[in-house]
Amino acid sequence: MKNFTSVHDVPDIPKLVNEAVEIKKYPLQNTTLGTHKTLGLIFLNPSLRTRMSTQKAAYNLGMNVIVMNMDKDSWALETREGVIMDGDKAEHAKEAVAVMGEYCDIIGVRSFPGLKDKEADYREEMLNIFLKYVGIPVVSLESATRHPLQSLADLVTIEELKKTKKPKIVLSWALHIKALPQAVPNSFAEWMLAAGHDLTITHPAGHELSEDFTRGAIIEYDQSKALADADFVYVKNWSSFNDYGAVSNRFPDWTFDGKKHSLTNEAKVMHCLPVRRNVVISDEILDGTHSVVIQQAGNRVFAAQAVLQTMLEEME
Ligand code: CP
Repeated sequence: MKNFTSVHDVPDIPKLVNEAVEIKKYPLQNTTLGTHKTLGLIFLNPSLRTRMSTQKAAYNLGMNVIVMNMDKDSWALETREGVIMDGDKAEHAKEAVAVMGEYCDIIGVRSFPGLKDKEADYREEMLNIFLKYVGIPVVSLESATRHPLQSLADLVTIEELKKTKKPKIVLSWALHIKALPQAVPNSFAEWMLAAGHDLTITHPAGHELSEDFTRGAIIEYDQSKALADADFVYVKNWSSFNDYGAVSNRFPDWTFDGKKHSLTNEAKVMHCLPVRRNVVISDEILDGTHSVVIQQAGNRVFAAQAVLQTMLEEME
């Protein structure tokens, strides 16, 4: 596994999931594997879970960690080709990224989409600059179109909690007040389908995701039908893909609450966090016994550790 930027980088999904499950049982079994190796964590956008869980995973493997919050700690980066750099960007990403590669053995990068220019976002400009110029393995900490560390943790959580071989998994759009990326739902759909799960996606008309990620899923516009007998409900808002980046608050009844939950098969309720209470999911659900969002966030450590461990083992 040279890089970890999507499910397509993973040669054996069940093996990686099993490794994460084993690491959860014995997180300190490999505390010298990463001795004298450095992980760089480069954030172009805010983070709580990704930053702390990946840092903890690296420490569990004995790695050193350098964290850069680019907006506060470094120079503003130019990404355009052939540009005359007489504006506010002091350094081109080509040099900055190549230099980071001199100081680290593995690098993680978080770069959100602008949600203005679909083609530019879906070209993954910043992630691709890292892949081209850094010269060391790259781990996506959430890119413009995918969040693979989150999806791996989600899959581990489902494997831990499922009561049948083929649980009914539903990805349900939810209300929000801001334009959010499609990265989490794209990635969740891609990982669930690649892992062989049946997936139903429900959302209002106009919030279709790109078929590149959802091909093979059932798309059900009637949320009540979609939720019927669900074993897992992954609640998530995303802005429109077709009317790119548009925010819709025309669907107030898409907040996930107890009434919607009563349609399910006592479903476990998932969300990647952060979550806006009583907009996306109601208090009664988040404070109730069906929510698994904290377990899900806890599993981010073991997902990240499985990925880093695989990369370190391949360096030996
Ligand atoms: N779920 C997730 O990636 O959380 P952060 O944005 O806080 O890292």
